[in-house]
Amino acid sequence: MARYLSIAAALATSAIAITPELFLGAPRRGVLTPNPTGEIAYFSVSQYSFEEQESTSSIKIIDLKTGDIRDSGLNASEINEIVWLPGTETGILYINETNEDVPGGVTLWIGDALKPNESTLVASLDAPYNGLKVANTSSGDLHFLVNALAYPNGTAYNEETAEIPRHQGRLYSDIYVRHWDTWLTKQRYAVFAGALLANSSYSLSHGGLRNLNQGVNFTVTRPETPVQPFGGNGDYDISPDGSTYVFLSKAPQLNKANYTAGYLYIGPFDGSVAPVAINGPNSTAAAAGHLGNSGVPTFSPDSSKLAYIQQDEDYYESDRWKLYVTPVVHGYGGTVSTGDFKPLAPNFDRWIEFIAWDPSSESVFVSAEDFARTRIFHIPLDSDEGYIPKNLTSGTTVSAFSVLPDSSLLVSATGVHTSRDYYITKGDGQVDLLFSATKVDKELAGLGPHTFEEFFFTGAQGNQIHSILVKPTNFVENKTYPLAYIIHGGPQGSNGNVWSTRWNFQVWADQGYVVVAPNPTGSTGFGQKLIDDIQGNWGSYPYEDIVLGWEYVQETYPYIDTDNGIEAGASFGGYMTNWIQGHELGRKFKALVTHDGIYDTQAAYVTEELWFMRHDYNGTILDPDSTYAKWNPLDHIANWSTPHFVIHNTLDYRLPESDGLALFNILQTKGVPSRFLNFPDENHWVLKPENSLFWHTEIFNWINHYSGVGGALDDEAIGE
Ligand SMILES: *[C@@H]1O[C@H](CO)[C@@H](O)[C@H](O)[C@H]1NC(C)=O
Ligand SMILES: *[C@@H]1O[C@H](CO)[C@@H](O)[C@H](O)[C@H]1NC(C)=O
Ligand SMILES: *[C@@H]1O[C@H](CO)[C@@H](O)[C@H](O)[C@H]1NC(C)=O
Ligand SMILES: *[C@@H]1O[C@H](CO)[C@@H](O)[C@H](O)[C@H]1NC(C)=O
Ligand SMILES: *[C@@H]1O[C@H](CO)[C@@H](O)[C@H](O)[C@H]1NC(C)=O
Ligand SMILES: *[C@@H]1O[C@H](CO)[C@@H](O)[C@H](O)[C@H]1NC(C)=O
Ligand SMILES: *[C@@H]1O[C@H](CO)[C@@H](O)[C@H](O)[C@H]1NC(C)=O
Ligand SMILES: *[C@@H]1O[C@H](CO)[C@@H](O)[C@H](O)[C@H]1NC(C)=O
Ligand SMILES: *[C@@H]1O[C@H](CO)[C@@H](O)[C@H](O)[C@H]1NC(C)=O
Ligand SMILES: *[C@@H]1O[C@H](CO)[C@@H](O)[C@H](O)[C@H]1NC(C)=O
Ligand SMILES: *[C@@H]1O[C@H](CO)[C@@H](O)[C@H](O)[C@H]1NC(C)=O
Ligand SMILES: *[C@@H]1O[C@H](CO)[C@@H](O)[C@H](O)[C@H]1NC(C)=O
Repeated sequence: MARYLSIAAALATSAIAITPELFLGAPRRGVLTPNPTGEIAYFSVSQYSFEEQESTSSIKIIDLKTGDIRDSGLNASEINEIVWLPGTETGILYINETNEDVPGGVTLWIGDALKPNESTLVASLDAPYNGLKVANTSSGDLHFLVNALAYPNGTAYNEETAEIPRHQGRLYSDIYVRHWDTWLTKQRYAVFAGALLANSSYSLSHGGLRNLNQGVNFTVTRPETPVQPFGGNGDYDISPDGSTYVFLSKAPQLNKANYTAGYLYIGPFDGSVAPVAINGPNSTAAAAGHLGNSGVPTFSPDSSKLAYIQQDEDYYESDRWKLYVTPVVHGYGGTVSTGDFKPLAPNFDRWIEFIAWDPSSESVFVSAEDFARTRIFHIPLDSDEGYIPKNLTSGTTVSAFSVLPDSSLLVSATGVHTSRDYYITKGDGQVDLLFSATKVDKELAGLGPHTFEEFFFTGAQGNQIHSILVKPTNFVENKTYPLAYIIHGGPQGSNGNVWSTRWNFQVWADQGYVVVAPNPTGSTGFGQKLIDDIQGNWGSYPYEDIVLGWEYVQETYPYIDTDNGIEAGASFGGYMTNWIQGHELGRKFKALVTHDGIYDTQAAYVTEELWFMRHDYNGTILDPDSTYAKWNPLDHIANWSTPHFVIHNTLDYRLPESDGLALFNILQTKGVPSRFLNFPDENHWVLKPENSLFWHTEIFNWINHYSGVGGALDDEAIGE
């Protein structure tokens, strides 16, 4: 009970606008998917109720002329995914997550977004397929792609009907035995192709579903699509005419722990020939030095071209993502290949993230992180070395966008002050705002852009380093607020103008802080040099930037109380917090918070992402020039003395919980005030609402006590 009382007390004294409970209980809206004629779009909404202790979800339709929103009438507890049917105005194909004939299977239904009760069951699928993409062919048949986990023999895996193994042993003969939060089994994800035949009421064609990955030979790494754990249906595509598919899979001749390389495989939908890698070994792309990972393969509306992104280096996950386009060539005997790839705007020093074609098939729109937000850019197919794209959007972060039939952009965005905005723009700076969550959700009442600022300061190597600054919603002029200095993860990541459901700066600020979140060396969105400069330099440049940023804040902002500040970070930010604890800057803070951070870089080889270690620490652990021993927080424990809150979750396999435990044990041995928080059911991130509420409550309890904005420490902790 005590912790709720202390929140109530804090509420009364610091005029909190948004609390952890309000923020976690607010609606979460998905991105918009417009219908083929660009008149309406659907989106999903889910919301957790702390009172009911459950989530509810629904599927909404927004009118793109008026912004009016209504319920679709489609049952969100039954429908997993919806796609619009090309060639229709409001026709849909969707996956129903129940299958009355096959437990653990799903069903496909054809319906109409405007007639939610008139859908027709067209296919029964015997496993939990998802990631639906569909093309409407000239014959009227619908060609679709889905994905599912599959046995080595290619058959889709259905957990509910699978044989239960007699033992729990896991035996491996190769590195990469687990990743993120999952131990590897013999099953791998695969893309499956199926056809719904127009001449027989859209029933599934006789052959059923065909596993496309099964056609790829491998020597080391078995083909897998989508690439786990974050891949989805953006890892594959079907041409709008239904004739061709493309999918991404990791390099079959390289070890997955050591390399990031991945290739795009293209093939004819009819399965007459096996898929071939367009940019694999011995391709013209490889000869031109494109050896790294690939992504977002996207066919042009006229099906004649393929746009995609690729990195040059084969074990650097943060190498620049460059944009390419290639013609799709249909050859003799049903073969499909690609012609010469063309680099588009090759000197654009940003990472291309997402691609959407203009209806003309003559240009693409892309999104890329740019100065602490994701923005949209336009790139014509004839752009060359001299073409530097201009941003078509501005302040907030683009989560997703679509190109409407008139080439205007339908954007789903977020910002520090809004969990979801929907708007249309022609890219001329004019924005037609359809919806803003902050104007509607009672949980977000009072939030606004007035709390967000950004600034540059001179960092290590004389670089201009960017930082964001977020004030409390009810900021009072001439009052001072302790600094909450927050370091991002990655290290190749950023702090930006984005709504986060995990590290939400407004929620931190509204405890009574000014949040300053810098983008030091290693940060993305400011050009590749700043990213590359962190290699082998984890404890030098970024730390120097962070120190110089702190000094700048102390000199520049009279309303920021740096004497009572706190510092917090997750992942690389957690490593950096542990580094700060051992160095001079650690003495400037009243409390520190490490979430899932490394304390011993020599032990970091426990991770499965050995490509990452090899790049960022300049070699393998056997390499005499590597930097595993160079920037190790463990070497500076003599200095550890600032109160430190440590979180480490059990399902984080890349940075295992032993790091957090050892960090806590050392702090306790030294008598440094400290607490350890563990979630046995969370991975690198705390995602479950009740867990997240506890995470926020206990961290805020700790920092508020030491910074002076709160009261006594609560008695929630388990201690002897
Ligand atoms: C939605 O589907 C769920 C699960 O099948 C069912 O329990 C519920 O009654 C349905 N709701 C409506 C409004 O039909
Ligand atoms: C496919 O597109 C055609 C128009 O090209 C349309 O008449 C037909 O209804 C579409 N098929 C389905 C199943 O929506
Ligand atoms: C989903 O499938 C179930 C049968 O398994 C059916 O009762 C229900 O109406 C379907 N829901 C939708 C939205 O198609
Ligand atoms: C669909 O059916 C449900 C349950 O029978 C009903 O409540 C709803 O009004 C119907 N929706 C439409 C748009 O007809
Ligand atoms: C593939 O393997 C699974 C698991 O052993 C088995 O259930 C399934 O029948 C096999 N499929 C084929 C086509 O042999
Ligand atoms: C239906 O269409 C399929 C493929 O488009 C074709 O193979 C089949 O012969 C057709 N069946 C009939 C009865 O026309
Ligand atoms: C894969 O290997 C098999 C057996 O060696 C061979 O017959 C087949 O042609 C190969 N497929 C490809 C796409 O190279
Ligand atoms: C991984 O890469 C390292 C460095 O190239 C190499 O020494 C090691 O043999 C590789 N391991 C495997 C299993 O491929
Ligand atoms: C690439 O070419 C080399 C030399 O011609 C050959 O040995 C190798 O098998 C080829 N690799 C692939 C994946 O085709
Ligand atoms: C592009 O970004 C700049 C800020 O860097 C902004 O002032 C401008 O409005 C943006 N352009 C558009 C079209 O949004
Ligand atoms: C803040 O302080 C300045 C300088 O002392 C004063 O001019 C101003 O009126 C004060 N503002 C408020 C809101 O008290
Ligand atoms: C790490 O390796 C890169 C590339 O080989 C090199 O440029 C850099 O100087 C090295 N850094 C350190 C600290 O050894």
